[in-house]
Amino acid sequence: MPLKESAAAPPPAALAGERVVALSAVRRLVAERADPLLGRCRYAADLGTRRVLQPILVARRGESFDAVIENALPQPTTVHFHGLTLPEAADGAGFDPIAPGARKHVRFEVKNRSGLYWFHPHPHGFTAEQVHAGLTGLLVVTDEDDDALDAALALAPGNRLALAVADARVVGGAMRPYAPTVEDCLHGWLGNRALVNGQLDTRWVVAPGWVRLQILNACNARGLLVAFRDGETLVTFHLLGTDGGLLAAPRELERVFLYTGERVDIGIDLAGRRALEAVSLEFDPRHHTQGAAPRHRHPARERYAPLAAETVCESTSGGAAEDRLADGAGLPLFALRVEGPPARTISPLPSRLSALAQAAAGAEAATRRMRLDFDERAGFLIDQTPYRADEIAFSVARGTREVWEIKNSPISMPHPMHLHGFGFRVLRRQGTYGGARRLATEPGGRFPTDLGVKDTVLLWPNETVWLAMDFTLPQDAAFRGAQRFMFHCHNLEHEDGMMMRNFSVL
Ligand code: C2O
Ligand code: CU
Ligand code: CU
Repeated sequence: MPLKESAAAPPPAALAGERVVALSAVRRLVAERADPLLGRCRYAADLGTRRVLQPILVARRGESFDAVIENALPQPTTVHFHGLTLPEAADGAGFDPIAPGARKHVRFEVKNRSGLYWFHPHPHGFTAEQVHAGLTGLLVVTDEDDDALDAALALAPGNRLALAVADARVVGGAMRPYAPTVEDCLHGWLGNRALVNGQLDTRWVVAPGWVRLQILNACNARGLLVAFRDGETLVTFHLLGTDGGLLAAPRELERVFLYTGERVDIGIDLAGRRALEAVSLEFDPRHHTQGAAPRHRHPARERYAPLAAETVCESTSGGAAEDRLADGAGLPLFALRVEGPPARTISPLPSRLSALAQAAAGAEAATRRMRLDFDERAGFLIDQTPYRADEIAFSVARGTREVWEIKNSPISMPHPMHLHGFGFRVLRRQGTYGGARRLATEPGGRFPTDLGVKDTVLLWPNETVWLAMDFTLPQDAAFRGAQRFMFHCHNLEHEDGMMMRNFSVL
C-alpha cells in the first residue's frame, strides 16, 4: 500500500496523466543527464514514494514548494520558475547557481493567478544548452476562475493538455547535440522538428466536446505562428488566456504568434471533427541583422564539460544545412485524434473568464525608456550594455508603477523580452511590420495576446511597445529587503549572449 503523498488540492480532473504531480508533493527535484552521448537531460521529481520523470507540476494558488533541488549535471545549474512572483532567494535566476553535485533547499508560495508557468535552468552562459537538452518543466497553477472554466466547458478527462513545444535537429532519426555555430549564436539555435513534452511526432487521443490546450513555446529561438488544421482548412479556436492567466473574455482566432517563453491558453470545439493537426504556419520572420556574427565567450564555460560530446559556440563552419529549418518556416507541431461517442450538446463558451481589468498605466507612472540594439562586436544588447552579473541597471521602489517604452532597432530581429517576478500589461504598439500588423486587431495596435497578463512580450524589428509595470511585491517576510530581478531576451542564445540586465526592487 503506497504511503500517502502530502495533502494538496487535487489536480484538475481533465488534466490526466502519469506525469501530473502536485507541486507541494515534490521532496527533491533533480536535474540529471539522461544520455551523455547526445547530452539529453531531464528533471526527476522525487515524491518520497515514487519518482516521476519530466513531471508536469500542478499547484493551487497559495500552495507551497518546499524541496531540495539537486544538480546531477556536469555544469552549474539553477531552477528558475518562469512567470512566478518569487523572492530573489527562490527565483533561481542565476545569481546563486548550484554547483555540479550540490543541492539547495528552496521554499516558496505560489502567489500568481491560474495559468501555465514553467521552470528551466538559468545559469548564465549555460541556459541555452541546458534548456535545449530537455530541461523544461511545466507548472499548471489553478484557482477558482480556472475551475469555473473547466466546469463550463464540461471537459472530459484527458481533454485538457499542458504542452511544451520545442524544436530539435533530427537527422536520420537521431537528434543532433547542441553545438551552435557563430551563426546560431546570432540568430538563435533552430531545429527542424518539433518536440512536444520532449517527444517527436506526438499525438493525443481526446474525447469529443471541448479541448483546452495550454501551450508553451519552449524553443530556444524559434517563433511559432500557431494554428490548427483539419485537412486543408484552418479551424477557428478561442484564445482564453496568456502568460499570466485568463483573459477577461475569450477571443476567436485562426492563428496566434507564440514566441519563446510565451504561453497561450486555447479552447477548441471539436464538434464534427475526427482529427486536428497543430502547426506553425509560415511567416516572414524579420531577421534583419547585418554585419559580422559576434562570438561570445563565457569564462565559466571553459571550466565545465559540455552536456554532449561536442563543444558549444566554438565551431565556425556553417554546419549541415538540412538539419535546420529557417525561422518562420511551416512546421507540424502535434496531432489530436478525436475518439468516442459525439457529445450530445456542446456547452457554450463563457463570455466572461476572469475579472481582469483593462490595461492602464496609472496616473503617477513615469516612463522608463529602453533600446534593443545590435553591436557588431558584442551582438544584441539592451541599452548598449552587455550583461554583467554584478551590475544593477536601475532600482525601483516597491509598489511603484512605471510605463516601459521599449524600442527595437530596425536592423535587428524579433526579441521576446522577458521580465522576472512581475506580470505586466501591454498598452500600445507602434512600428509593427505589415505582415504581423494584420493580426494586431486590438486597440493601440495590439495583438489579442496583448490583452492578457504577460511576462514575455515580443518586439519585432523597428517596433516600439509601451508596457504598464506594477512593482508591487507581497508583504511576506520572504520579500523583505532589496530583491534583484532580471530583464532579458528569451531567445536563449541572445540571453547567454549578454542581452540581459539586472534591476533591483527596494
Ligand atoms: Cu524563462 Cu529569465 O527566464
Ligand atoms: Cu523568468
Ligand atoms: Cu533576442
